[in-house]
Amino acid sequence: MCGIVGAIAQRQVAPILLEGLSRLEYRGYDSAGVCTLAEGQFYVEKTIAKVESLKEQVATHHCPGTLGIAHTRWATHGGATLVNAHPHLHENLALVHNGIIENFDTLKAELIKVGYSFKSQTDTEVLLCLIHKCQQETAGDLQAALFKALAQVRGSYAIALIDRNHPDRLYAARQGAPLVVGVGIEENFIASDVLALLPVTHRFIYLDDGEVVCLGASRIEIFDAQGQPVHKDSVESPLDLESISKGQYRHFMQKEIFEQPQALANTLMGRLSDAGLNPEAIQGLDAAFLNQLEQIKIVACGTSYHAGLVGKYWLEELTGITTSVEIASEYRYRKAVVRPHSLFITISQSGETADTLASLRLAKAQGYSKTLCICNVNGSSLVRESDYVFFTRAGSEIGVASTKAFTTQLLCLLLLAILIGKQRQYLKESTVSALLKEIATLPELTKQVLTCDEQVSALAEQFAGKHHCLFLGRGIMYPIALEGALKLKEISYIHAEGYAAGELKHGPIALIDQDMPVVVVAPDNALIGKLVSNIEEVRARGGRLYIFGTPQEVFQHDEQTKFVSIINAPEVLQPILYTIPLQLLAYHCALINGTDVDQPRNLAKSVTVE
Ligand code: M6R
Repeated sequence: MCGIVGAIAQRQVAPILLEGLSRLEYRGYDSAGVCTLAEGQFYVEKTIAKVESLKEQVATHHCPGTLGIAHTRWATHGGATLVNAHPHLHENLALVHNGIIENFDTLKAELIKVGYSFKSQTDTEVLLCLIHKCQQETAGDLQAALFKALAQVRGSYAIALIDRNHPDRLYAARQGAPLVVGVGIEENFIASDVLALLPVTHRFIYLDDGEVVCLGASRIEIFDAQGQPVHKDSVESPLDLESISKGQYRHFMQKEIFEQPQALANTLMGRLSDAGLNPEAIQGLDAAFLNQLEQIKIVACGTSYHAGLVGKYWLEELTGITTSVEIASEYRYRKAVVRPHSLFITISQSGETADTLASLRLAKAQGYSKTLCICNVNGSSLVRESDYVFFTRAGSEIGVASTKAFTTQLLCLLLLAILIGKQRQYLKESTVSALLKEIATLPELTKQVLTCDEQVSALAEQFAGKHHCLFLGRGIMYPIALEGALKLKEISYIHAEGYAAGELKHGPIALIDQDMPVVVVAPDNALIGKLVSNIEEVRARGGRLYIFGTPQEVFQHDEQTKFVSIINAPEVLQPILYTIPLQLLAYHCALINGTDVDQPRNLAKSVTVE
């Protein structure tokens, strides 16, 4: 999604803005631009290529000034062209925007009537002209104009605005899209994400919806939507620059796959001890509420939704509580029935996904007793708006394809299920201890599974030139098959579908031929006998099988079948461990197909618009 950086300082800001944009690249974008102000003049550079070319342009043409704004654009209104790229300029004003102005066409028609004309197809230029018009009506008072304009706007936005006539201030505002203030010494910043500003500060103020901020080099004034001053403390970010560099790895995705043993160990840290599961694992989760709990609803998007699907198996099995899982973009637009004593869980790596956030707000209005968020980003909107938070502690995830965030989400869901099952005495103490003992081995087992990398890399060669692929799994491994398929399609662009293996004969079996690889997730569990029958159905139709499983005599080995051996692991850990070879398969297929692994086409890391 779009990324915003802004700076007001006593030094040149262009290098800060450009570095910030580089650090926002991972969010996904298709054009970029920067605007600085020096001696009453705007200096603007834009590109429809990478931020690297923008840096070259600025090195050649120079963007001087101690005040500036910059943007990476993920197109919503109008294609990825230079004209549509931000910053947008109108006379004395320059604006960058992340989000969608829903009533932009009505506003545009009104502005055209009073003489405005538009160069771009964007909703952003409409907002800019609206602010300009309001400034005419408020005798040049930019702050009053901004409030007046924002009051007329419907939709979501994070914006940064500068005025040629006011070189001493940078305005920013947030409604439904992320924005943080970076607090410096004699300099201040704004950005969509703290990662953009880590080279210049570690202190941040998280803005809430409706807030407007006016930054000077040595002042920060925050206002609510009514224009009343708001006091907010800054907080120190624990993130460091090391955590957002590729280190020895070729891609962030590869690094993040190999970080999983440590990430999972971090998820467990302080939550699992010799004494068992720490009841404080989820801050504030109160026992009385858990005892009354009758239903659980999980809502999320993409990979996080797949984590929810796995979580349903665990939650129903280990707590006896009815659990349902829904895609956030569907949930938010239907009339759901809410039972008393229900818990609403959102799952999100970023904590900013627009549909998930809207679902959370809806759930609160619908009367859910409590809300819990399983999230990786401290300070994010979902975290701030939920009653309880269970941090995944995966560390920064930069690759667009979610890897360590997913496996740590799974671990949180497993711990949550055990915690609830134990609290309600649905699980025996002995069962809890046995499960926790197995869970403690997870980081080490993850390391061992990662040793299949070379074998998976060789296997990936056989996917070269393939256009379609099926992933099969049964029971709790079905959502893992869905996740394997999502990973493959999003980064290698091979069309892939995940299926519950028992569904094969109800349709997809018609597709089986030697050009359609069939990946089977086949751990040794209670359903393996059933899965073997499905494997035979594929073999009988000449399908090419790629089985990930524990070696057993149940698997027939022939030239149609390739087998990747995965260590025998406790059943409860299999969903987490079997995810890893599928991540590696997607990664190696993407390398072979020569795609942009960390920033696949058309995708964004943090989907802040619906
Ligand atoms: O930040 P979130 O977990 O809420 O993001 C949800 C999806 O956008 C995300 O999981 C997406 O599907 C990933 N690209 C998958 O790898």
